[in-house]
This record gives sequence, structure tokens and C-alpha cells, in this order.
Amino acid sequence: MPLVTTKEMFAKAYDGGYAIGAFNVNNMEIIQGITDAAAELKSPVILQVSKGARSYANHTYLTKLVEAAVIEHPEVPIALHLDHGADFDICKSCIDGGFTSVMIDASSHSFEENIEITKKVVEYAHDHGVVVEAELGTLAGIEDEVQVEAGSESYTRPEEVEEFVSRTGCDSLAIAIGTSHGAFKFTAAQCERNADGILVPPPLRFDVLEECIKRLPGFPIVLHGSSSVPQEYVKMINEFGGSMPDAIGIPEDQLREAAKLAVCKINIDSDIRLAMSATIRKYLVEHPDHFDPRQYLKPSREAVKDMVSHKIINVLGSNDKI
Ligand code: G3H
Ligand code: 13P
Ligand code: ZN
Repeated sequence: MPLVTTKEMFAKAYDGGYAIGAFNVNNMEIIQGITDAAAELKSPVILQVSKGARSYANHTYLTKLVEAAVIEHPEVPIALHLDHGADFDICKSCIDGGFTSVMIDASSHSFEENIEITKKVVEYAHDHGVVVEAELGTLAGIEDEVQVEAGSESYTRPEEVEEFVSRTGCDSLAIAIGTSHGAFKFTAAQCERNADGILVPPPLRFDVLEECIKRLPGFPIVLHGSSSVPQEYVKMINEFGGSMPDAIGIPEDQLREAAKLAVCKINIDSDIRLAMSATIRKYLVEHPDHFDPRQYLKPSREAVKDMVSHKIINVLGSNDKI
């Protein structure tokens, strides 16, 4: 089937109590790892592209690689989504360039400006058969060039969500309930150490999520910053020449609970980066005489596939949904 929008996948996910994984893509190996896992587990999937991905790999290369995945896996519903579109122009460029979904992230603007910018994108997108994700509230962490210090983030205000959605006409809404971008989501001061010395982050704000759901019944909610930063990969990176002390993510059981509620899209990027780079580091240290990229990219592509399979089964619950 051709690329799809997220409309039908979100409606089914909402009713079925699961979420669709939205994975960031930057190159062929990542696209192959993600879509091979989705095909094997019969899961719909969202491939998302950031501004940084577009400037690294180029719009044409990325859309053509995604087109190849669509041809290879015709049975898998795949949506191609712009992640964190900062303004109307980048959204328009992706809509005109074949994306089926865009995010307009005007969450750093005032409430009124956010509505105005989002509404303009929604009008253009809907005229072209494309759906729009918007955001209310601010996550901590780094996304493209914008860095929000831990402690400066703000949770979504549930009393604003109905007005925002009805005035903009957006199709899904990203909210801030304590998730955060990147591999260092919390400072040590924000966490508690458990008996094994592992840092445990503060729990997600399910009260904020539930209040938003009450005010937007049937409406798809999105969670950004939802990598869990698996400690086995952090260890592997540290063991094979890297240095990532106190990298910490969102516990997977909390994301699974959110997926059972109205959260229909869960964004995961850092976990894929960790899996790839840990595997490459290990391979090159263990094979000092190898220099063919195919040798070290093959196990790292397999690690992406394993990571996505794990997320589909243990976090998203989107397996066997095709
Ligand atoms: O939230 C942002 C995503 O992880 C994309 O990251 O801007 O480094 O491509 P990027
Ligand atoms: P992570 O950094 O937690 O993977 O979040 C990715 C994300 O939200 C992309 O928009
Ligand atoms: Zn994000």
C-alpha cells in the first residue's frame, strides 16, 4: 500500500489500547531496521524526519529510502511524518514533498501565537490530505537547535487543551507530562538512587494526562521524549570507549500504561541511536582490522531491528495489528 496518514492507525490504536511507534530516521540502515521489525511483527509504524535529518541526509534521499521500504513491505501501514516542524515553511515543504503527516511545534510561542501558527499549517495540510500534530507545553532536553534546561520545562495545562484543539483543528496533540528529549533526561538531583545505585526518575504526571483525556475524549495524544535509555547499551558504550555517565530515560512500564490510555503515538529516537552506536563501538573494538562499513553497520542495523521489536511488543503493544 502507499504511504498512509495516521488517521486510521490512531483511531484503531485509541480503541485497541495500544500506541504506534514513531521512530526518527536518518539513513538507510535505520529505515531498514525499523520497517523490518514492523513487518515481522505486523505492526503499523511512523517514520519521522527532523529538520536535522533533512539537512544531514537531504529530503530526496530520505523520501526515496522510505519509498523503498514501502515497496519492500507493502502490507505495513507506514506514515511519513515531519518531527518538530518549527514554522509554516518547513511544514509546507514537507507537505509538498510527499509527507503524509507534519508536526508544527509552536509550543515555545504564546498560547495565541501557537494557535495562529498551528491553524495556518492545519488549513494548508488538510487541503492537501495531510494530518497535523501540534504541541502544548514544553519538554526538557534538546530538539534540533532548541535546548530547554531541566527545570525550565512546563507541563501542559489541561484547561487549555479543548480550546487549542477546537480553534486549530489539529489531528493529534503532543503534551508534556514529564518526558524529555535525549539520553540525559534528568539530572541526578531530580532522581532518587535505588538500592542498586541506579537513578530512578520522577514518575510521569498521569494526573495531567488523565485530565487532558477527560477534556478531549476520543482524541489522539502524543508523547515525545519517550526513550528509556536501556542501561545495557549505556554500559556497552562506556565499556567500549564512550563516556555517558548517568544517562537515564523513561521507565518502559510507565509508557506501556500511557499507551493503554489515549496516547496513540510514542516518539523514540535516542534508544535507536544508543543501540546503533553501542553496537558499532563494540564491533570495531573487537575487530580492530575491519574497516568495511558493511561489517559494522550490519550488526548495528540488526540492533535497531531488535530495539524496535522490543518496543513494539513491550511498550507500544502494536504487534499483530495489521
Ligand atoms: O526530538 C528530536 C529528535 O530526537 C530528533 O533529533 O533534531 O537531532 O534530528 P535531531
Ligand atoms: P527521545 O530523545 O526520548 O528518543 O525522544 C525523541 C522525540 O521525541 C522525537 O521527537
Ligand atoms: Zn520530540
